[in-house]
Amino acid sequence: MARSALLGSSLTKKYWMALTGLFLCLFLVVHLAGNLQLLDASPEGRLKFNAYAKFMTTFPLIKVVSYLLYFSILFHAFDGILLTMQNRKARPVRYVKERSSTNRTWYSGQMGLLGALLLVFIVLHMKHFWYRMHWGGLPLDSAGNTDLFTVVAEAYRSPVYVLLYVLSMAVLAFHLLHGFQSAFQSLGLNHPRYTPVIRNVGVFFGVVVPVLFALIPVWMFAFPG
Ligand code: HEM
Repeated sequence: MARSALLGSSLTKKYWMALTGLFLCLFLVVHLAGNLQLLDASPEGRLKFNAYAKFMTTFPLIKVVSYLLYFSILFHAFDGILLTMQNRKARPVRYVKERSSTNRTWYSGQMGLLGALLLVFIVLHMKHFWYRMHWGGLPLDSAGNTDLFTVVAEAYRSPVYVLLYVLSMAVLAFHLLHGFQSAFQSLGLNHPRYTPVIRNVGVFFGVVVPVLFALIPVWMFAFPG
């Protein structure tokens, strides 16, 4: 008998995967809007970004939302991994023919692998930027804020780092191409008129968000300022 993952029945668990997944999608938009400021490498642009980073790490309400975010990432990741292992146990033989004859895509069957790669990226990314911003003892800029802009700019001077970032965004794209619309299905939000719209919004979201994220390190590498 297949046991459900972290929370109760498989239906409850599905809801939580969908809710945490959509919350992470919302976070991606906010994070992207902040990161796009990195495209401005002028002295004022650098100061503005550092002031923004200080605000995001100290403003009390945002701090509370951040804890919810850390919890959501951990919950989504571990429940996702358990769910994938459970599904493998329940169906050890792969139905290659059956899969290819339906309109399932290869990436919809690889959400666990894509998610695990994302988890590795998130941990390394947080170690590199988030940890150093909080506890790294970084130098201050002329306004007295931690100079996160310089740390990011230095990281993206390495072509290997830029390449790994771009590849990670490709992984994110495939996770979202399936995940965005799947979350609405999991929540039972099916409607003959709106489901195709959600599917199209999902494709738009799954392409535009990762491409814009990937653009930032490529731009900073090409135009170090
Ligand atoms: C930026 C990070 C992430 C975002 C925005 C995101 C978003 C989503 C969304 C919206 C779904 C659809 C939920 C549903 O089908 O109801 C999903 C599914 C899934 N995610 Fe993530 N995710 C992220 C990171 C991760 C990580 C780190 C893992 C870790 C292993 C993971 C594993 C999974 C799995 C296995 C599923 C499929 C669940 C199922 O079959 O129902 N995700 N994700």
